[in-house]
Amino acid sequence: MSRTHKITLIPGDGIGPEVSNAVVRILEAAGAATGVAFDWERSAAGAEAYEKYGEYIPKELYASIERNRVALKGPVTTPIGGGFKSINVTLRKKFDLFANFRPIRNLPGLETHYPGVDLIIVRENTEGSYVGLEFEVVPGVVQSIKVITEKASTRISEFAFEYSRKMGRKKVNTVHKANIMKMSDGLFLDCSRKVAARYPEIGYSETIIDNTCMQLVTNPYQFDVLLMENLYGDIISDLCAAFVGGLGLVPGANLGTECAIFEAVHGSAPDIAGKDLANPTALLQSAVLMLHHINESETADRVQQALENVYQEGKTLTKDVGGNSGTMAFADAVVAAMETPVTA
Ligand code: NAI
Repeated sequence: MSRTHKITLIPGDGIGPEVSNAVVRILEAAGAATGVAFDWERSAAGAEAYEKYGEYIPKELYASIERNRVALKGPVTTPIGGGFKSINVTLRKKFDLFANFRPIRNLPGLETHYPGVDLIIVRENTEGSYVGLEFEVVPGVVQSIKVITEKASTRISEFAFEYSRKMGRKKVNTVHKANIMKMSDGLFLDCSRKVAARYPEIGYSETIIDNTCMQLVTNPYQFDVLLMENLYGDIISDLCAAFVGGLGLVPGANLGTECAIFEAVHGSAPDIAGKDLANPTALLQSAVLMLHHINESETADRVQQALENVYQEGKTLTKDVGGNSGTMAFADAVVAAMETPVTA
């Protein structure tokens, strides 16, 4: 008898459907071997959903996430300048997914300029400059409001320290710009410090965002868990992705107390969409985080091991990491590695 998990699947647009199909294929193969079945509830979001249903986020998608409490999401394009509000930001806010968790780790066999990186980015996910409060005061003058609250800053700090305690991480570093944004980043910093004082066994430090970028590029090994507000987390995530081979690799989880949405750090990559060039590794590693979250660690380990074997072997990789295989060919190689473990 297999255990069945109902999971909301948002394939997204751009490269979203390609990487989602690849990940579903791998998860189903892994599940078949470990007695786990997936009942995917697929739903469109963004421009595609608007064309079909006249809504950017269909009611059924909200209902599906409410029911299942777990979603796997491909990237969704957000128009630049005008157009509709980010689907990602809207979902994170709606389900109060306050913690954006992004582990940055090298894959075995994939050479980068920075071997052995092991960083955790903890990004506040519900406020900061992403609240969407922008106004034209008078023509030619626009105001954009950044919201930082004690409540959200304290709970994201608690998340970072609780995670560190549970996983034996040594140090949390808060990234800020409180020298300029004295009140907003000042409050974030103040909350971090108060929480840090309750975890004396975990080291605590602070760096200003601009210096953090330089310090990271110079020596990423000096950091362990990086804690920050929304916008800094967005930028630092892409910077850190480059340490381990790029955006095609880095996974993410949006976590709340009731629901969780798992998605890669990358976007819809319109430059390579529909060309069979997308690397599904980032979404696959997000799915591994999801499998752990739903207590299917055996399946998660099986997928991760097969993925690592494929990288270790290095024969069937996508173009972004120096290979010449397509998205589905890569997925096939991961499935094959689950059946016949590859040796380096
Ligand atoms: P992007 O992450 O889509 O692409 C940046 C670069 O990385 C491109 O050269 C792209 O080809 C490459 N890349 C990204 N993912 C890849 C993968 N899996 N395999 C191989 N190469 C990959 O960032 P960009 O171009 O700034 O954003 C495009 C759209 O995506 C925008 O509308 C943006 O708002 C949206 N976006 C959506 C996100 C989400 O749904 N969670 C997150 C970030 C951006």
